Amino acid sequence: MYSSGSGGSNMAAAPTSVVVLDRGNNTTCTINLHGATVVSWRVNNQEQLFVSKQAVFDGKKAIRGGIPFVFPQFGSWNYGPQHGFARVIRWHVEKSPERLPSGDIEAMFCIVDNEVTRSMWNFPFRLSYRLILREKELHFNIGVYNVGKDVTFSFNLLLHTYFKVPDVRRCQITGLQGCTFVDKVTRDGAMYQEVRDVVTINEYTDRVYQNTPQEHIITNVVSNRKMRIQKYNFPDTVVWNPWVEKAREIQDFGDDEYPNMICVEAGHVSAPVILLPGTAFEASEILQVM
Ligand code: BG6
Repeated sequence: MYSSGSGGSNMAAAPTSVVVLDRGNNTTCTINLHGATVVSWRVNNQEQLFVSKQAVFDGKKAIRGGIPFVFPQFGSWNYGPQHGFARVIRWHVEKSPERLPSGDIEAMFCIVDNEVTRSMWNFPFRLSYRLILREKELHFNIGVYNVGKDVTFSFNLLLHTYFKVPDVRRCQITGLQGCTFVDKVTRDGAMYQEVRDVVTINEYTDRVYQNTPQEHIITNVVSNRKMRIQKYNFPDTVVWNPWVEKAREIQDFGDDEYPNMICVEAGHVSAPVILLPGTAFEASEILQVM
């Protein structure tokens, strides 16, 4: 299905378009073409992603929640908006949702450089984003292509995933023990090493963990289930929750919403990906409700 209409709870100032992957059995995934942001993933009618009630769907601002697509910059940037432009430009549908022989549903989205992207980042590129909705899984395959003939470029890439949780204080994240991390809360630029076998969140948290393993499990997500994250060619894992005070500062985030989300983000952000002309970079992620 490919439909036009309001993409969320706040009335849209400009029309937004969403694409829905429908696997049956109330298992769906909705992508807003503004940023190719995954704004909903329902498994047996149970929403797995957090989207703020204050999220703005005006076709300009990044959508607060779901899975914003961060490219070509992670964090602030001299040449364009924080976290790059991919999450705030309109993507194309390369392949409308189609049922595969397995019963799973596949769709593909893409962007290529245009006047707007070149005004911030003057490189010829193509970015493709393939999603496959399975019974209890969502698969993401990303391809970044340097379509130029002679210029090398470098970039960051990250899937800024907001998981919906009943109470973030009860979530544990596995797979981070021993990993070095940068603490963006202290902003001291120092490198720390995680000593905990599972990471819990009880305060404002903004950490970039490096060289993390391929798999993380988050406990106590919706319905007290576990969420498995598997990632390939994404060496970093960002863990973020704004907590009380920061939540108040973020306009498109409700003051009382921080207990109901946890961002665990697979990315290539500590070091840039360097892409030679005529070559491609691929990365993928699988989210699985356990
Ligand atoms: C996280 C960053 O990934 O995204 C944080 O590590 C940032 O520093 C957060 O605050 C949200 O960013 P934004 O631009 O969506 O408000």
